[in-house]
Amino acid sequence: MTTSPALEARGLFKVFGKNPRSAVERLRAGASRTEVSDQGTAAVIDASFTVAPGEIFVIMGLSGSGKSTVIRMLNGLLEPTAGDVVVQGENVTTASAGQLRDIRRRSISMVFQHFALLPHRTVLDNAAYALEIQGVGATERRERAREILDKVGLADRADAMPVELSGGMRQRVGLARALTAGTDIMLMDEAFSALDPLIRREMQEQLVELQRELGRTIIFITHDLNEAMFLGDRIAVMRDGRIVQNGTPEEILTDPANDYVAQFVQDVDRTRVLTASSVMEPPAAMVPVSAGVRGALKVMRDLQTGSVLVTENRRFLGAVTDRAVVRAVKNGNTDLRSLAKSPQSVVGPDEALTDVIERSVESPVPIAVVDDKGRLLGAIPRVVLLAALGNVEPTTTEIPIIDVPMTVPVAELTATLEAVSAANQPVIATEGSV
Ligand SMILES: Nc1ncnc2c1ncn2[C@@H]1O[C@H](COP(=O)(O)OP(=O)(O)OP(=O)(O)O)[C@@H](O)[C@H]1O
Ligand SMILES: [Mg+2]
Repeated sequence: MTTSPALEARGLFKVFGKNPRSAVERLRAGASRTEVSDQGTAAVIDASFTVAPGEIFVIMGLSGSGKSTVIRMLNGLLEPTAGDVVVQGENVTTASAGQLRDIRRRSISMVFQHFALLPHRTVLDNAAYALEIQGVGATERRERAREILDKVGLADRADAMPVELSGGMRQRVGLARALTAGTDIMLMDEAFSALDPLIRREMQEQLVELQRELGRTIIFITHDLNEAMFLGDRIAVMRDGRIVQNGTPEEILTDPANDYVAQFVQDVDRTRVLTASSVMEPPAAMVPVSAGVRGALKVMRDLQTGSVLVTENRRFLGAVTDRAVVRAVKNGNTDLRSLAKSPQSVVGPDEALTDVIERSVESPVPIAVVDDKGRLLGAIPRVVLLAALGNVEPTTTEIPIIDVPMTVPVAELTATLEAVSAANQPVIATEGSV
């Protein structure tokens, strides 16, 4: 099944200057931005990307890299020197002025960094402004604006004037206005950059939530990598007018296309981006519950490890440690199923590392990554977690050992093993027995 894209940029160029077309020819032939500077400023060079409906697509790059120029071409504010923009199947670049107005009204709205509110209108009427332009009647547009103001947490300020609001609140009115417009696609150019960090973070979370709820397609520009990583389903990294990498946050973080991107992502807060599935490993120490405590001990001995994950028909039951097994066997309990109970060490594949870390702190055994059917997908030993966070290979010697290995003396282990086999599969306590 293929859904048609919400928006497509095909080979976009924008050169400001005296001789833009011949600059494009030279850029196409491989000239750099500096090499064509005699003919103009090459703000955007051969940018192509596709944005799927409902996606948050982030364009990220340093100041002057061409982000705003790209986004202005997307809604027809700027005419590309070459290339095409296609919005929901319609070519913006070749559209007439009338068609363009129509596309903007129906399909695309925009939020800027410093959102210009109409100073003599209330918050409510500012939020309803786009609907007013669309010719929606006063009662209906106010009703719709009120709903959106509620979503951005400004319901109680509906009657305030813009001067009475803080910067963050004003920005939220801007967001509300774009949301109220009801367009499928929202373009946001540094929409949160003027906000202080706490409010900014709050707005990011709110945007993700609203996007999930309303299913809009969002193209978001930022020069802040943490913001890009947090918001983006996909991120295009721009440098000197070119898109140098286009991928998911994880791809950009774990497989940067070049040194430029690698340097960029160095300081990223990885815990917000990476998920359990991106750091998990195939479970090595694993045993089916039918193998019993003897099987579990044997796997631990063979793999020289202190714990093992227990499964039944590929479903994860729990983890057991050597200590627990040895202690249980001493007490006459040889039922592996009853020992394998460690709900705290289970995470889903999409869980953020922040949460995995929390579990990891509480858990002496590797974290089990389990799908929604309860099947074991992989394991995250603590050392792998540390490696992922520090971006070092788990094979280096730099990783601090933060936990004493959970081992018991070999002699005791062997004795236990022998005891278990000598007993020749003693009667296993059945469920419900006292
Ligand atoms: N109207 C214009 N006329 C001439 N040059 C322009 C114009 N608009 C942008 N430029 C140039 O194009 C380049 C890209 O600018 P753009 O505004 O797209 O960058 P940006 O990535 O949005 O940067 P910032 O993060 O600072 O907003 C810059 O060198 C800029 O000076
Ligand atoms: Mg800009």
